Amino acid sequence: MARDKITIVGAGNVGATTAYIAATKQLGDIILLDIVEGLAEGKALDIAQASPVQLYDSNIVGTTDWGETTDSNIVIITSGVPRKPGMSRDDLLAKNVQIVKETSEKTAKYSLGSIVIVVSNPLDAMVYTAAKVTGFAKNKIMGMAGALDSARFSYFLARKLGVSVEDVKCVLMGGHGDDMVPLPRFTSVSGIPITELLDEEKIAELIERTRKGGTEVVNLLGYSAYYAPAAGTVKMAEAILKDKKTVMSCCAYCDSEYGVGGYFVGVPVVLGKNGVEKIIELDLNQSEQAGFEKSLAHVKQLAAKVDKLL
Ligand SMILES: NC(=O)c1ccc[n+]([C@@H]2O[C@H](COP(=O)([O-])OP(=O)(O)OC[C@H]3O[C@@H](n4cnc5c(N)ncnc54)[C@H](O)[C@@H]3O)[C@@H](O)[C@H]2O)c1
Repeated sequence: MARDKITIVGAGNVGATTAYIAATKQLGDIILLDIVEGLAEGKALDIAQASPVQLYDSNIVGTTDWGETTDSNIVIITSGVPRKPGMSRDDLLAKNVQIVKETSEKTAKYSLGSIVIVVSNPLDAMVYTAAKVTGFAKNKIMGMAGALDSARFSYFLARKLGVSVEDVKCVLMGGHGDDMVPLPRFTSVSGIPITELLDEEKIAELIERTRKGGTEVVNLLGYSAYYAPAAGTVKMAEAILKDKKTVMSCCAYCDSEYGVGGYFVGVPVVLGKNGVEKIIELDLNQSEQAGFEKSLAHVKQLAAKVDKLL
């Protein structure tokens, strides 16, 4: 049986770490691509040289040549500039829209049948860009944000409660920005709603830390996070390649769902071999709906900027 082929565009911090985690999980053969001569080749060789120790058989090729990516099952787009301290994700839009446009054109040319996971920021606008440029079916194009934001919220909750991270499951909606909408009513520890375990004030503190989770890391490092973003990206790729029907939050195309009206935004979905196989519609209360609508308005503003730049 042929192995799945995974292309990762951008061999920087997120791309190379995604390649490494995907290789250790033996998700398939990996093509790591960058425009910088030698970078992807060097990272791929380093990852390959860890395989006899870590015991994985995935082939990993580093390249600048899109021809090597032909007929990939999944294309993960991480190409683009990351944030520095003092910058918002939105500040990256003008530059990254051109990079994601170029890499999306190449994706459509070389891997017409692929499923695309976009990681570049500002996330929701970059997914919108990739969808417009590739013209791929809307279930086959999505963005990684919910996996990361949920992981951050789950981690903070587990530490606060002194429980295993395995037991915390959470749902998060909206755009990948400070106005994201974590949903405590749908967040639980082994089925026990967190609203039974923590008071409102403590939950609000952890939500605020989650919203600023990316900025906290940027301020410490001077550049943006990559271990947790890569782990979230691989979780999505694994759900698709193994047809796991995983329920998780991701940036997906919604039309009538939640009254979105044809935009990509964070919602709970089922991920399987066809990409986004279902959008789960929760019965939001008034304040949850208001939070989602505020975040969606921001997503729409960024999409309008993309329309002007493309
Ligand atoms: N969605 C999320 O939750 C999330 C989390 C972290 C980072 N990000 C975003 O992911 C992107 C990458 O972050 P990073 O830390 O890996 O940055 P990085 O600078 O380490 O890597 C980006 C790489 O993209 C490459 N690149 C640029 N243009 C290219 C092109 N046209 N074709 C191929 N490769 C190209 C660069 O050479 C560089 O190696 C940023 O936009 C960042 O904001 C998103």
